[in-house]
Amino acid sequence: MTSGEFVSNCTADALTTAAQLVKDGGLVAFPTETVYGLGADATNAAAVARIYQAKGRPADHPLIVHIHSMQAIGEWADEIPDYAIALARNFWPGPMTLVLKRSILAEDFVTGGQPTVGLRVPDHVVALALLSAFEKIGGKGIAAPSANRFGHVSPTTADAVREELANYLAPTDQILDGGSSSVGVESTIIDCTSTAPRILRPGAITTEMIEEVTGLKVLTEATDIRVSGSLENHYAPSATVELNRTPIATEGFIALAEFETPESVIRLASPKTVEEFARVIYSALREADKKGLKTVVVQEPTGNGLALAIRDRLLRASKGR
Ligand code: TXA
Ligand code: MG
Repeated sequence: MTSGEFVSNCTADALTTAAQLVKDGGLVAFPTETVYGLGADATNAAAVARIYQAKGRPADHPLIVHIHSMQAIGEWADEIPDYAIALARNFWPGPMTLVLKRSILAEDFVTGGQPTVGLRVPDHVVALALLSAFEKIGGKGIAAPSANRFGHVSPTTADAVREELANYLAPTDQILDGGSSSVGVESTIIDCTSTAPRILRPGAITTEMIEEVTGLKVLTEATDIRVSGSLENHYAPSATVELNRTPIATEGFIALAEFETPESVIRLASPKTVEEFARVIYSALREADKKGLKTVVVQEPTGNGLALAIRDRLLRASKGR
């Protein structure tokens, strides 16, 4: 069964309807600047349970609660340190999730039973309009993981969401189309429950940016906080992903434009910059599966910042499903 109404024209009316659908317990997949999310009312246990079902995700993995502005941070979190406020002021809306001590509003079904809650204000007109419309009808926040089946590559287009989830959504659920995600890899997740920030998942907001804004050194020692996106194998296509070797005939190849394509190798992407690399990596991995390739070789970008986030995802993708 294929379901999930496809809304390609995000008019104000369409967004009001989508917000009401979320309020009524439905699921709405929506674009963000990082990847597409699969959203439900973060205060509705039954609706959130449907997210886990659609994704095939274990119920003890926490979801990020998306809010319209940093004004709502105090509704969802308690004991917010000053450095977290500084991060929110500087980088929201944006590709950053703050993990904070949860308030009573953040229940076990959304935090996976953890004493913390992940919060994010996404930087995408459609996401912000949806969140704003949801707030106007009394909504508090939209819980949304990436809109893919558990362990798979995150979707950066509405079509990719359909490929992943159409068979698992109800006919009344919706997929909002807001074009291709401009960042392309998931948000930086920052644990804000210690005296200084700690990165749980690297992304476009980098260590350097965090240290500059907070005046604090980012903690690097190990933590026992669970992050499902940090499972060894995650973000994986069906094709086997192999890193940093010369591709041979009939294999797929993803690398910066400066790397040439060996003969009869199938070039899947030639980004010119690290930013473009992040933007296209997931759609290029999906393309490998569409072409039925067995192996895709990726030449990783070097350096810190966003390149580090790309290498983090590729390492996990290379562990397979
Ligand atoms: O860019 C993003 O973050 C996208 C868009 C849709 O916002 N969302 C996303 O969600 O990547 P998801 O569920 O695929 O990955 C979120 C990660 C999970 O690994 C989850 O374990 C972690 O965030 N997380 C959420 N709340 C947490 C918490 N309270 N403590 C620790 N980790 C948390
Ligand atoms: Mg995910």
